[in-house]
Amino acid sequence: MSILLSPGPVRVPEEILLAQAKPMITHRSAAFTKLYGDIGTRLKNYLNSKEAYVLTGSGTLANETNILNCCTPDEKMLCFSNGEFGNRLIEIGEVYTNVEHHSLPAGKGWNLERAKELLDNSNAQVFGMVYNETGYGVMNHAKEIFQYAKGKGMLTIIDSVSAWPAMPYDQEEFKVDFFGAASQKALGCPPGLGIIGLSKDAVEQIESRGKIPSVYSDLRKHRKRWLKNQQTPNTPAISLFQALQKSFNLIDAEGGIPAWAEKHKKASEYVRKRVTEMGLKLIPEPGFESHSLTAFYADNANEVKKKMLTERKITIVGCKGELNGKGLRIAHMGNFLKEDLDLCLDTLQRIIK
Ligand SMILES: Cc1ncc(COP(=O)(O)O)c(C=O)c1O
Repeated sequence: MSILLSPGPVRVPEEILLAQAKPMITHRSAAFTKLYGDIGTRLKNYLNSKEAYVLTGSGTLANETNILNCCTPDEKMLCFSNGEFGNRLIEIGEVYTNVEHHSLPAGKGWNLERAKELLDNSNAQVFGMVYNETGYGVMNHAKEIFQYAKGKGMLTIIDSVSAWPAMPYDQEEFKVDFFGAASQKALGCPPGLGIIGLSKDAVEQIESRGKIPSVYSDLRKHRKRWLKNQQTPNTPAISLFQALQKSFNLIDAEGGIPAWAEKHKKASEYVRKRVTEMGLKLIPEPGFESHSLTAFYADNANEVKKKMLTERKITIVGCKGELNGKGLRIAHMGNFLKEDLDLCLDTLQRIIK
């Protein structure tokens, strides 16, 4: 048995895998309307957003869709980064608008104290940030920063790809206009679906602006089709929609999204405790530790990772960017098993000795 503890894709339980094996239906059928109607409505309730959509594509598509629907070429997006995925948000932004960006080194997190002056001094119309920087296992203090940015009159975009539903989120409360996530992380599904949540202001922006520079990602088209009969503008990955519905059922059966987030928080506390007891140093500074993955410094990180795989078929991943070869990451996302985490941690302890 191999154990997958990478920060996406993650272990997918058999029930979800089998949900994809149902007979095919067309996306222009009453059966699909029922399926997407159920998923979309539940998603909107889970996020507490005004509207919610599922796109066939990965997390990057969700982020790019949000940016290209929100930003116009003559305006500016302020973007805070603290790693690979923050940088990717900047990269996407630069395709569609002007970007003002500020970065923190590996392991540092964004909080309001660090963000306030930059927000005060910016003339950007849009603000974007990653909730959970997967590259270094750093959870930014998203709620306070997004609330402040919105208070300044900005439209706000969050990359929640490795955060939701592992970490607390309420779109109204967070004051986020455009939310993006993906199926292969804490939802515990296979890869292939991008998740979008929109606020009232987001909907107004989409409908009132000029040309949207995409056909596939034009959210006006997604809105129109949903409002007509809860379908998608193009042919979606129907089997993955079935998997997503099953994943929602499993999450609800375990007490719903808040209980799911709590499960992740507890797992992160457990893994951090075990890792630090081994004498390893965490990468995130205190107060910014991710709930969905644990990142730590390790000597010979690549060698350790390789041994985990060859000796016990356990997949964990290394760090990228400035910590390439210097750190490791263990994910506890979605439908992870406690016994898998224990075997991983026991093996790690033995290998690093
Ligand atoms: C925070 C974050 N944003 C964006 C992405 C990109 O998502 P995808 O690979 O699904 O396109 C990832 C992937 O790991 C991520 O962790």
